[in-house]
Amino acid sequence: MPVQTPLPVPPHGSGGFPPAPMTLPAILLAKTSAQTAFSDMAATRALLSHPDDAFYLKADDFFTANSKVGLTFDDITLATLYSEILPRDTQLDTQLADGLHLNIPVISADMDTVTESRMATAMALNGGLGLIHYNMPEKQQLSEVSRVKYHVQGLIPDPIQVAPDQLIGDVLKLIEEKKFRFSTFPVVDEKGRLVGLLSGHVVKPRYAAKRVAEALTPRSQVRTLTPKELGKDPIARADKFFTENLGIHKLLVVDDADVLHGLITMSDVERISQERKAQFKPARDAQFRLICGAAVSATRNAFGELDRTRILSHVEALIERGVDVVAVSTAHGHSKGVGDTVKVLRDAFPQLPIIAGNVTSASGVDYLAECGADAIKVGQGPGSICTTRIVAGVGIPQLTALFVSSRAAARKKVRIIADGGITKSGDIVKALTLGHAVMCGGMLAGCTEAPGEMVEIGGKMYKQYRGMGSMAAMKSGSAARYGHEKSDTTRKVAAEGIEALKESCGSVDRVLAQLIGGIQSGMGYLGAADLAKLRENARYIRVSPAGQREAAPHDVVELKTGV
Ligand code: XMP
Repeated sequence: MPVQTPLPVPPHGSGGFPPAPMTLPAILLAKTSAQTAFSDMAATRALLSHPDDAFYLKADDFFTANSKVGLTFDDITLATLYSEILPRDTQLDTQLADGLHLNIPVISADMDTVTESRMATAMALNGGLGLIHYNMPEKQQLSEVSRVKYHVQGLIPDPIQVAPDQLIGDVLKLIEEKKFRFSTFPVVDEKGRLVGLLSGHVVKPRYAAKRVAEALTPRSQVRTLTPKELGKDPIARADKFFTENLGIHKLLVVDDADVLHGLITMSDVERISQERKAQFKPARDAQFRLICGAAVSATRNAFGELDRTRILSHVEALIERGVDVVAVSTAHGHSKGVGDTVKVLRDAFPQLPIIAGNVTSASGVDYLAECGADAIKVGQGPGSICTTRIVAGVGIPQLTALFVSSRAAARKKVRIIADGGITKSGDIVKALTLGHAVMCGGMLAGCTEAPGEMVEIGGKMYKQYRGMGSMAAMKSGSAARYGHEKSDTTRKVAAEGIEALKESCGSVDRVLAQLIGGIQSGMGYLGAADLAKLRENARYIRVSPAGQREAAPHDVVELKTGV
């Protein structure tokens, strides 16, 4: 272990006083000081012969040398290493449990303004994972999981349909009102059966008075496929269909009773085929379905006891829908309720990947690992909407929490998920030097795929983002996560999160592309071909406030943000 240079010792006798006559102990002391000074010089020489080792310390050395202070992302920077690794050649896959493999180490947070089926689908398509939140009725959470599991890439499951007795004028009005950028529609009867296709060529003002039934291409001339015919690789099959059927740009999918099940467009197929050449493949289960996770709470019954029956039936139903992992998600994971919930689930479902949290201590990791968790979420109070540290006065700056937890995790052979506080790709690189994946809320809450409507304020578009411990979210169901009861109106309940807005930031694809680019870049600088090597190669140094200022653009007039 490299030696930390001690603070310089003031020279003996300095201070302007005449030296006092020396006693025996003083003589001995003088001798010892001289020896110390000599050995210091030797140590300094030794250190300077390997200055990298003296300044840039490996995790164990660095964090133990800084054990008296809680550090977070901006407090440190990583030292570069000789590298033969190009960023584009780095691999980002990570194993969070037996049977839970991600192609990128990013998880969207189980928050009601972050992850429902659209977000979880987009995350899995990019190789990551979405955890569907539990601030909704159980039945709805099950349907959200089903939507992800039965997502067929490129298939629009509920295409806009028109009825045969509508007027073309009504269809034109619909296009205008909803601002559709397409004008071809499947036509279905009242039982949802396909009766034809209304082509964009006839959706014109001159035909406004005509009925759809008069203008449609009849069913007999519309080529369709069944879900079975689409097979395991619907995009490849649809691609073949469009090549074989010259001039057809829309493929309708119907079941054996001719009920419409969806629509695939040629432009989507072409875009997806292009994306398939991308480096990071979608995260899928053994049956080629997208992976999806769901959060569950440590639910209590009317007597305040853990409601084992309800927890088990909820998770059983999630498993029936194909859920790949459940997260027992609370603010204080090192607690009996969370531990008992994990134990109940582990006993009942030995193969089920379980995430549990949150903790910030080695003993918290040990506890949840012993209860049966595979991956443990670390983070108390680092989140962008969190006020736990202000309200409760607890929580640990995230990098120190990750280091302490990661050492226990390595002993227990469980994985660490760094949850909260990520504001840029560099933070992810730093988090991945200690953990196996990161969980993001704020980075994804402004995406199109996050739940909720966009709002316009001062010409800019925003989406709502709120802490699960905010008063509004707790009223919607997340109170148990913070140790409160939803219906608890007789006691004061302290909110541990705020309600906020995030500027809209486009699609998840776009945001993840930037984050992944940053992670790969960091790995290239550290000569790390994969995440295991990144953890092995990382060397840290603390950054001064001036160093932090230096790290961001400075002394220029910024024209483009680089985003
Ligand atoms: P970011 O920084 O990605 O953090 O926005 C998301 C994580 O924050 C946690 N979380 C909360 N923590 N009060 C808290 O103290 C809250 O109200 C709250 N809501 C979410 C959670 O771990 C999430 O993944």
